This record gives sequence, structure tokens and C-alpha cells, in this order.
Amino acid sequence: MSDSYIITGGKPLKGEVLLSGAKNVALKTIIAALMFKGDVILKNIPKINDVLDLIELIRSLGATANFKEKNTLVINGSKLKSNRVDLVNGSKIRVSFMLFAPLLYHFGECFVPNPGGCRIGARPIDRIIKGLIALGIKVEYDPETGYYHAKMVNKPKGTYHFEKPSHTGTELLMMIGLMTESKVEIDNIANEPEIDDLILYLNSAGAFISEEGKKITISKCNEIRQKDSFTIMSDRNELVTYATLAVASHGDVTIGPISKNLINSFLEIIKKTGAGVEEISNFKYRFFYKGEIIATDIETTPHPGFMTDWQPSWAILMLQAKGSSIIHERVFENRFLYVDELKKLGADIDFIEVNIENPELFYHFNFEKERLYKQTIKIHGVKELHNAILNIADLRAGAALACAALLAEGESAVNGASILERGYEDFVEKISKLGGVIKKV
Ligand code: EPU
Repeated sequence: MSDSYIITGGKPLKGEVLLSGAKNVALKTIIAALMFKGDVILKNIPKINDVLDLIELIRSLGATANFKEKNTLVINGSKLKSNRVDLVNGSKIRVSFMLFAPLLYHFGECFVPNPGGCRIGARPIDRIIKGLIALGIKVEYDPETGYYHAKMVNKPKGTYHFEKPSHTGTELLMMIGLMTESKVEIDNIANEPEIDDLILYLNSAGAFISEEGKKITISKCNEIRQKDSFTIMSDRNELVTYATLAVASHGDVTIGPISKNLINSFLEIIKKTGAGVEEISNFKYRFFYKGEIIATDIETTPHPGFMTDWQPSWAILMLQAKGSSIIHERVFENRFLYVDELKKLGADIDFIEVNIENPELFYHFNFEKERLYKQTIKIHGVKELHNAILNIADLRAGAALACAALLAEGESAVNGASILERGYEDFVEKISKLGGVIKKV
């Protein structure tokens, strides 16, 4: 199977990138569509591997899902015939556990395997399962089969307070809330903009979801039925990938469409590096090299902070910065799988220890005292990068490695293209259009 890129680096990238729809909205709108009456039309759905795997998975459960135009997907969940998520299909894609909501809606009972997904940290769903139970769903886990068995004895109701916020957890409990006969409240939620887009989509089809600060309230609704098609928001992660690459390669790239509120924290910090940033219009931004890049530290946090999905791209930019910079990952454990690969290109990066007073509170994963964590790196720039053979371990790291190869002199091989393509649409075409030399083999 063709699963590698051959990349010849060293050229400044120039031109324009048209952003695709956000992966992390597409997946959830497709799953929620299974709770709607009638057909659901979703626009701007990226044709990426995660979406294609999810479509295969919901078809295996009896739903229909077909692309009408390149990015318009029509879904109908009325003929769901199975309440058991297949282990092989389910383990391909982490969000398969979100099928708890439509399967409980259709069958009142379901069997869902422990989720798979990116290799970034343990990624347990303990807080999410606690949330289901708090809303009245009976959930049992069978360690022998690796399956959760969930049963809706009564309609969901009540309040759940997330100990620490969870993005997909907030979304799943919100979908569970759609079945309430009274009211469901979820507190200490994640505030990611992808969640706001999901709320917009559900409310436009008859749901009653309100969000106030860190709290979401879902009130009883009669039915969820689309009046108009829904267009999902652009992918802010994709913007960051191309923007950092533009500046790091000493290039000049205009990117859009994107709403400013999705990328504010990124714009603020990239300006600190001395990069050129120009707002062409409300929805289009130009990123360009305008002289020495200044080493700039970041710390990842949930919205409105600097997002964890952006840090591998930040590392690529910092490889080209003068001086040393620090990246401190607070959201996921084990999200520096790209470091050893970057070293193969000649990058100079160390893991460092940072003393944190109250790590249980500071980190967003479930911190365990006795475990050894590697949450902080120090990048020493500017190093001339040379070609190498690189292996992709997870999605965002994959994009970072392909971008690093685009900065390195000579021809590199990047293995694991299908992992990168879980989240990036038309990667080869978009890079080629900017003048990057890349082919898939
Ligand atoms: N966590 C737990 N227990 C839980 C839930 C979360 O320990 O029950 C931990 C996680 O392991 C992590 C932290 O809490 O350390 C935050 O996790 P969260 O649940 O918020 O992340 P997620 O919902 O699994 C989504 C995105 C990620 C994105 C994060 C943060 C999707 C499909 N995934 O993950 O996107 O990084 O939120 O915003 O929406 C990506 O696109 O590459 C990606 C990883």
C-alpha cells in the first residue's frame, strides 16, 4: 500500500491555502446526525481518513451516508439495525465511543468497545463514563471482551460536574442530554469552539442547548430534524500547520476562510516571534517571513489558550528560531512522539524537568505521582536540517514531520501518510500548490 511521502525540502512555500472543514466537528456532527429524524445534509465535511472510517462504521450499523458533492454528506440513521459497535471498525477511530448516544437513542441499550485513536497518552474515558452514570445511564465494563454495556433505564436527567474538562466528553453528554424528558446540566465543560459549532448545528434542528461560561444546559425537545443543511466550521488546526510552515520556510502564505475568534491565541503568539501576520479580511490571514524568528515559549491549555494540537507545528517553527524555546504540554501526556524523529533531521531538542507545585491540578490528564512524565521540551535553533527517513506515530506529529522534511535540505521519506491523512485533506495537493516538492509513494 502506498503510505509514504517523498519530500524534497529547502524551498520557501508561497501561495494560498483553502482550509477544509474541521475534523473535530465533522466527526461529531456525523454521529449526532444518527439522532435526527429524516435526512441530514452536512457541508464542508473533509474527505479525510477519520471521516471515511467513521462513515464505514456507521454504515456497518445500518445507517446510510453518501457524499453528494466532494464535501457534502447526506446521512440517515433511521434504519440503524445493530446496537453493537464492531471491535475492528470501532478501534480504528477514537470517537467510536460517542456512538453511545445514537445507539441508546435507537435501542435503549448498546455495546461499545473501549476506544482506539491516536497514540497520545493513555486517553482514558473515565470522566465520560462517570458522566453517563450520573445522568442515569447504567454502564458496565467487561474487561474480558473490552466492551462497555450501556442501558438507558430512564430518560437521562440531572447534573454532572466534570472533575477536569473533556472535549469529546462534553459533546457526548450533550448528545445524551438530547434524550431528556426534563433537563440535563453539564458543568465544568470544555469550551472548545468545535463544541459551539456542534451546539449551533443541534439547535438549528430543534434542540434546546444553552451555554453559559463553563456550564451547558440541555432542555427537553420534541424532535431533532434539519430545516436546512449545516456547513461546519473551518479547521483551525490546519491553519496553524500551514501558517507555521509558511514562516519557518521563509515563505508567504495566505490562509482562509477562518473566523478570528478560532485563532486569536495563535495570532497573538506568532506575532511575538517576529513573523509577518496580516489580516487580509475578516476571514483570511497572510503569514510570512520578515526576518529573524524569535524563540518563543508556549504552554498548551484548553481554549482560549494555546491548543495542544498546535504544539508539534510550533516545534517546527521554533527549529528555525534564534535561541532556545520551551514547549510545555499540559493537556495530554506522551505528546512528544515526534522529538526523536526530528533529531534524525539534525534538530537539537532536549527533554527538560520543570518543577510544578501542584501537578494534579496543573495537568489536564489524570496525573499519577509514581509515573514518569515527559511534558516539556527545549528546542535549540537555528539548526540546518538535513534529509532523513521519518516515521509518523500520531496525526499532528505526522503533519509536523512532513513540514520538517519540507524545511530540510535533500530528499526525505516520511512513512505513515495514512495517519497524517486521518486529519488533513488533500495534503499533497495543498503543499504542491505552495511550491513544496512532495509525492506519495
Ligand atoms: N481525559 C481523561 N479522562 C477522560 C477524558 C479525558 O483522563 O474521561 C484526559 C485526556 O487523556 C487528556 C485530557 O483529559 O489528557 C483532555 O482530554 P479531552 O477529553 O478534552 O480530549 P479529547 O476529547 O479526547 C479532543 C480532540 C483532540 C484535542 C483535544 C483537546 C476530538 C476527536 N479530539 O480530544 O484532537 O486535542 O480534544 O482539545 O475532538 C486531534 O485532532 O489531533 C486531537 C487529538
